[in-house]
Amino acid sequence: MNKNRIYQKSLKDLNTFSIDVIAKKIIFVRTIQSLIKIYKKCNLFNIPYIILGEGSNVLFLENYKGIVIINRIKGITVKEKKHSWLLHVFSGEKWHDLVKYTLRMGFFGLENLALIPGCLGSAAIQNIGAYGLEFKNICQYVDIICLENAKIIRIEKKLCKFSYRDSIFKYKYKEKYAILAVGIKILKKWNPIIFTSLLKNINISKINPYRIYNNICKIRKKKLPNLNKLGNAGSFFKNPVISKKDAKQILSLYSNIPYYSQINGYIKISAAWLIEKYNFNNIQIGDAAIYKKQKLILVNLKKANPRDILKLAKIIQKSILKKFKIWLEPEIEFINSLGKIKLLNKKNNF
Ligand code: FAD
Ligand code: EPU
Repeated sequence: MNKNRIYQKSLKDLNTFSIDVIAKKIIFVRTIQSLIKIYKKCNLFNIPYIILGEGSNVLFLENYKGIVIINRIKGITVKEKKHSWLLHVFSGEKWHDLVKYTLRMGFFGLENLALIPGCLGSAAIQNIGAYGLEFKNICQYVDIICLENAKIIRIEKKLCKFSYRDSIFKYKYKEKYAILAVGIKILKKWNPIIFTSLLKNINISKINPYRIYNNICKIRKKKLPNLNKLGNAGSFFKNPVISKKDAKQILSLYSNIPYYSQINGYIKISAAWLIEKYNFNNIQIGDAAIYKKQKLILVNLKKANPRDILKLAKIIQKSILKKFKIWLEPEIEFINSLGKIKLLNKKNNF
């Protein structure tokens, strides 16, 4: 029998890179019960599985030999407190839909995170962030579910170990667990976050949450590729966070690198700037390319082979390391035929 016949479903529309690979099976899950049922089946028959939201932070490298579970467990409940709104949101809700919902309800504070693709579950894992706001700033807790016994465990914010595009969920509660819901606290007293790039477009005296929302949407639509036209997963690499000493050194050579001081004394510098400065000269590997308007984004021009995207990413990493002595760590996750794998990290790459 032709081995390939076990592959049945294309994942093209379920990953924003638009990589045309197939999975043995794709199952949309809308209830906790069905999530548990599928997990038990996978466990019993030793079938690999992966849970996805919108597939906007992953790169499938080849056909997947297991079950792709698309999490669509939804629901939002709101509790009113004296000074805040407490939202309990299930992990299959789409992030941007939640931002719109809160604006409609008059709960202000999420507007800086408008138009970020993906679902709530991954927003917590990834500690999504943009324009001066991170998920951790509004998170109260993350509920995870043990898929073996359906026990729900609440991880309070302090224990989530959130940091730049990072959380405990990248290291712990991976096997046999799923993110089920998150708790979000929105203060009734609105505190606008005016990130410097917003200042150009906003008249401070006329500021309101809707104006910030509209501006963020405008900036993002202008700067980021349209997912319906160009496959990508947002920033391919993280902005490097380096010591003050290293920052001093590189800034003495390149004084105009955009950089941001971190609360821990470290300095985050712009990876997009480094890539732009290197000048890769319209480099293209197959259908994989660097997005012209935002150099931290790698794009699938049409039918990119994921290996070409990987090749391009490696060239970028090597070149930036050679020129600036700075290591670019991937932000996105890589998935091979059996599951997630670590690639392009310092230890195993060169
Ligand atoms: P997926 O890609 O589906 O999954 C990501 C990881 O989470 C996978 O390992 C998956 O197995 C795991 N996972 C997903 N759901 C669960 C669950 N319920 N339980 C357990 N594990 C789970 N990110 C930012 O932070 N800021 C930005 O401004 C931003 N802009 C972007 C712009 C574009 C155009 C794109 C394409 C991406 C952007 N991103 C940004 C990255 C991306 O949107 C986020 O990382 C997002 O949180 C990913 O959500 P997802 O549901 O698509 O995750
Ligand atoms: N820049 C360049 N060349 C470029 C793009 C940017 O030199 O091609 C310079 C500009 O000076 C610009 C600065 O870099 O002012 C920062 O650029 P931008 O505002 O686009 O932000 P970023 O640091 O490249 C980060 C996040 C984005 C998030 C934006 C807005 C990371 C890895 N990326 O990008 O998140 O939307 O800030 O806050 O932290 C994502 O994580 O997928 C993502 C898109």
